[in-house]
Amino acid sequence: MPRSAHVTGWGRYAPAQVLTNKDLERIVDTSDEWIVSRTGIRERRVAAADETTASMAAVASLRAIRTAGIDPDDIDLILLATLTPDYWMPSTAALVKEAIGNTRAAAMDIAAACSGFVYAFATAQAYIAAGLARHVLVIGAELLTRFLDYSDRSTCILFGDGAGAVVLSASDEPGGALGVEMTTEPQGAYMIWLPAGGAKSPPSSETIARGEHYIRMEGNQTYRFATRTMATTALESVRKSGLEPADIGLFIPHQANIRIVEAVAKGLGLPMERMYVNLDRYGNTSAASVPIALAEAVNEGRVAVGDNVVLVAFGAGFTSGAVTVQWTADPARGVAGDAAVDPSTVHVRLPVDWDSVDPIPPALADLMAQPGPVDVPLDDVVPGEPEPARQPVGR
Ligand code: ACO
Repeated sequence: MPRSAHVTGWGRYAPAQVLTNKDLERIVDTSDEWIVSRTGIRERRVAAADETTASMAAVASLRAIRTAGIDPDDIDLILLATLTPDYWMPSTAALVKEAIGNTRAAAMDIAAACSGFVYAFATAQAYIAAGLARHVLVIGAELLTRFLDYSDRSTCILFGDGAGAVVLSASDEPGGALGVEMTTEPQGAYMIWLPAGGAKSPPSSETIARGEHYIRMEGNQTYRFATRTMATTALESVRKSGLEPADIGLFIPHQANIRIVEAVAKGLGLPMERMYVNLDRYGNTSAASVPIALAEAVNEGRVAVGDNVVLVAFGAGFTSGAVTVQWTADPARGVAGDAAVDPSTVHVRLPVDWDSVDPIPPALADLMAQPGPVDVPLDDVVPGEPEPARQPVGR
């Protein structure tokens, strides 16, 4: 009898620096009104110069581990979904393993763009069902602001940085991860892509001059794929779980565009109250978007024990993935788990005798250099706490 995989821990981390639509108005020909009406995004986070995908992932992971009430060394497998690894090699998962103080786990990265976290989650479930792992750490982490062309208004307004993580634990109790659905449609392979830096077009002064190290996207084509596929993928996952959409308490969709989320709700015949949305505050954080949204939804009290929750994403590839989860953990554990980990105490080991170039994109450097208290506590979404004064970058 395969064992079931329950979410026992969850955590998130977002950098303190806030980049608002008004800030972007100073860089490209856009407006807050255009961005909000076409995407729903109001602001996004930008990692500081000393933050990396691994460092953000490590904070989110430790928070998930504390929430689960286990030790870092209890983790048997670390799966990290990202399209923005710290290096081509080693894997970012390996760096996170060391940073969280785990000595036992196998660690690897998973590449499926914005669907990466759901793909990693499904892989973790399969390891647990097969009896190969007891606790799996599943992470989605991205540092997208380093790979954006800040002269391309059609892409640079969309993305932000952050990390989220869950612990999946084996159990003989019913519940946890139920039906999984994943699709890959390679006819969309060049609809969202990053042309250079890989084996087809290795980095060179020419690829840099051509601007080929930045994310490129056919927004309209991507939008069409997303609205068509997200609802059908979610529905298939729900049906494989023996459920109907009406049985789902909350959908946690990939946070790319509010209009896409609205289309998914319509496709499922459900009101928007069943869709969790936080893209207004983070933009699209690719593989990090679903786990950040899940952690916030649970910490806000939107998920109760026994509820069915659907995680659903789409992304470059084109990929899509959905997993239906029957929630079994005490939601109150998440806030305490977050508070237990101070990001300043988490460190990713740096190489000896090598230092990176300044990673902050020049277009953002001026904005980020201007003084101003920009720290927005992560717990700003916890009900009952006063809304902190938001201080955008460059004010
Ligand atoms: N500010 C002002 N005007 C803009 C901006 C901007 N930031 N960006 C584009 N425009 C202009 C365009 O130039 C165009 O002008 P024109 O009519 O004079 O040519 C006009 O606005 C309309 O452009 P569209 O691209 O048709 O706008 P649309 O309503 O489709 O919205 C968007 C564009 C937001 C990108 C939408 O297509 C979208 O969200 N697509 C999905 C993108 C997505 O989710 N990608 C993530 C995939 S995840 C991953 O794996 C990385």
